[in-house]
Amino acid sequence: MNNTTPLPLVIVSHQLPEAWLAKLHGRCRIITGPPTTVEAGLSADLRTLLPQADGLFSLLTVRVDEALLAQAPRLRVVSNMAVGVDNIDLAACSRHGIPVGHTPGVLTDGTADLTLALLLAVARQLPTAAADAQAGKWTTWLPTGWLGADLQGATLGIVGLGKIGQAVARRAQGFGLRLLYSGPHEKAEAADLGATYVPLETLLCESDFVSLHAPLTTETRHLINAQTLRLMRPSAILINMARGPLVDTAALVDALQNGVIAAAGLDVTDPEPLPPSHPLYSLPNCLVVPHIGSATQHTRRRMAELACENLLAGLEGRPLPHQAN
Ligand code: GLV
Repeated sequence: MNNTTPLPLVIVSHQLPEAWLAKLHGRCRIITGPPTTVEAGLSADLRTLLPQADGLFSLLTVRVDEALLAQAPRLRVVSNMAVGVDNIDLAACSRHGIPVGHTPGVLTDGTADLTLALLLAVARQLPTAAADAQAGKWTTWLPTGWLGADLQGATLGIVGLGKIGQAVARRAQGFGLRLLYSGPHEKAEAADLGATYVPLETLLCESDFVSLHAPLTTETRHLINAQTLRLMRPSAILINMARGPLVDTAALVDALQNGVIAAAGLDVTDPEPLPPSHPLYSLPNCLVVPHIGSATQHTRRRMAELACENLLAGLEGRPLPHQAN
């Protein structure tokens, strides 16, 4: 007779490459959801399994709230395959004694690289220039065509000098940018990065480029709004690599249409995904990419592996390598 305890049951909210979840094999029973293209949240089928679930492996599109937790009385750990945890009600998880894992560190460099890619693409009008070339508008070498902004000697304002903000600052040093930063408090690391701490208002007034790297919280929601946009220079470029709701989308559309700021590069939007009919897509001074800050082969695999490590630690009652609550 087999009287061994059954392996814990883990819900993996969406399909992922098997190799990314290899650490879980033999350690738990896995029920996997549909591909992300079918449904962004937790599918109805998976919801019916919540009462038996010991662990939940979630993507940032899955809302983990009191209602979900109420259906999952056995849940011992939630592991989010993302550094941001604004999709999770951390307080509710804490009330239920459930640790929440997340994946800081492994996506720092990939996200910082994309920040510079977006900044350069917008500053040098790459999408317009590429589209014009393809459309036959490259008729000769144009002395005044597709003129952009220099990085060398310009000022970059980093909102949120956490791990990613610091990695952006390191890259920005190489481009000869002067660095300002703002956030809830000064950071010891800033001195080595040559970044000066200023209030947000000063940063917005003095920066040629403003790059957002703060988490989404009640304090940071709509940090960039009609009023704060008006503090920025008419030549300024806004980059959002953090979370869409840091920016008031309607105010940004208005600012881009009316020359309040020059341009924006957005890896994240509100709403997300941004519907194809959204006005932001039709603005030549706005570049939108589909939340790909961490989208490199290596980074996404490391995120999944770290999420597995957090999950296993939670199932085994050990401290999570990276716990958010
Ligand atoms: C991506 O946005 C993440 O939070 O990891």
